Amino acid sequence: MTDVLLEMRDITKTFPGVTALEDVSIAVRRGEIHAICGENGAGKSTLMKVLSGVYPTGSYTGEIVLDGKPVHFNGIRDSEAQGVVIIHQELALVPHLSIAENIFLGNERRGTGGLIDWNRANAEAASLLKSVGLDENPTSPVIQLGVGKQQLVEIAKALSKEVKLLILDEPTAALNDIDSAHLLDLLRRLRDRGITCIMISHKLNEITAIADSTTVIRDGHTVETLDMTDEDSTQARIIRGMVGRDLDSFYPDRESHPGEEVFRIEDWTAWHPTQDRKVVDGANLNVRAGEVVGIAGLMGAGRTELAMSVFGRSYGRDVSGHLFMHGKEVRARSVSEAIRNGIAYATEDRKRYGLNLIADVCRNISAAALGKLARGGWVNGNEEIKIAEQSRRDMNIKTSNVMTTVGTLSGGNQQKVVLSKWLFTDPDVLILDEPTRGIDVGAKYEIYTIINKLVAQGKAVIVISSELPELLGICDRIYTLSAGRITGEVPVGEATQENLMALMTKEKELAG
Ligand SMILES: Nc1ncnc2c1ncn2[C@@H]1O[C@H](COP(=O)(O)OP(=O)(O)OP(=O)(O)O)[C@@H](O)[C@H]1O
Ligand SMILES: [Mg+2]
Repeated sequence: MTDVLLEMRDITKTFPGVTALEDVSIAVRRGEIHAICGENGAGKSTLMKVLSGVYPTGSYTGEIVLDGKPVHFNGIRDSEAQGVVIIHQELALVPHLSIAENIFLGNERRGTGGLIDWNRANAEAASLLKSVGLDENPTSPVIQLGVGKQQLVEIAKALSKEVKLLILDEPTAALNDIDSAHLLDLLRRLRDRGITCIMISHKLNEITAIADSTTVIRDGHTVETLDMTDEDSTQARIIRGMVGRDLDSFYPDRESHPGEEVFRIEDWTAWHPTQDRKVVDGANLNVRAGEVVGIAGLMGAGRTELAMSVFGRSYGRDVSGHLFMHGKEVRARSVSEAIRNGIAYATEDRKRYGLNLIADVCRNISAAALGKLARGGWVNGNEEIKIAEQSRRDMNIKTSNVMTTVGTLSGGNQQKVVLSKWLFTDPDVLILDEPTRGIDVGAKYEIYTIINKLVAQGKAVIVISSELPELLGICDRIYTLSAGRITGEVPVGEATQENLMALMTKEKELAG
């Protein structure tokens, strides 16, 4: 199968002060899975927004040829009419609507008299759900689904539009290994049905497992397109294309010299906000100065709930237990109390809790510790900019300047802003929830280096991650969490993916 379904030729797209894409070309064969790789900010999402008409014709230069014909899309309705459907990096389902309502939103099934025919919609939704392997009732609200299942609903929605070319922007970024494997299987099945797929991903192991071709983009330019059946289309080759050099190792070296205990919780318990069950159940955990401690657990194990309940009780009902900083029990019943006691928590959900997307980079970085910059009720603007500039350099945040609106930064660079913000509060213990989600390999290395620097200064760091290799690569000790309970504590020297996995799935035994 060598015939080409899509060609984008010499695409150039600029934003004020930024050239996001310059003469980028890409050819996608009919029926293939075509991966796009590149560092954060390389221009991947922008290229796909050009393709799907999010950036309408006239707002870029270059040519898009679909099925041999030049196309000019003025919006996603135009592209969808031609079978091009994009699923964005940040999912766009409406939480309180049902699965079926979400699937047919904007594309309602109407019966006689123009009324929406819900029987038909639900029946069609049920069959679409079946085709994506999702066993859920079409009338359940989307809010009850985890991210993995929401991703499948997005695909079901795409299938309802008779998709010919499906574009997925980092579909597995927020998924655990099991859900990711499930999604990749589905993409293979869609390929068997003749659907062409473009997939952006930072997970290079997935790309080598599933892609037929891979186009690498660096700084808004195409580097090369690899045929993945070639022997030398390796992860190392992709990385070299992305970052322009070899990466010898994924994790920087660090000598571990843990000192005094900085942070400890005892018998920590939190109830679900609305349901009658504990989400965190009698957890005991400690971290010493200079130590990186991991928390491993499957989705729903209570990792984020544990962290957020510790962070000023920002999650959960009837939170109880004891919290010690430097051996002394402290109260941290609100976020500001937690921050004052030297606790910081960088959220996994940067869009919802982590950032103010319409504010600039500068204000986002200072937001959690504005008090440090205030004199007599006024924020010292010059100082604020100086701090932000410092973070931009230290964290290598790609933005033309710190007055840029955060919402326009690439996903990975937004994550670096979240980290900068919490570092500026100068915490003693920093809890990082999925700190490298959606981050490219080079930037991951930079973030690990930042973590190492922090612990070298005597800080304590807790990392929550779905990626076990990451925890094994950066932690001194790893706790496993299952159904809200700590089921194990393993020094990294004794930890393997297998024994961690066994501890992470231990709840059934415990429950009897
Ligand atoms: N609406 C916008 N306004 C201004 N600049 C933008 C806008 N959207 C993207 N950019 C800039 O264009 C460049 C490419 O961004 P893009 O989102 O395409 O990167 P990406 O490759 O998808 O990165 P990531 O892996 O982090 O998602 C970045 O420098 C980004 O800051
Ligand atoms: Mg992107």
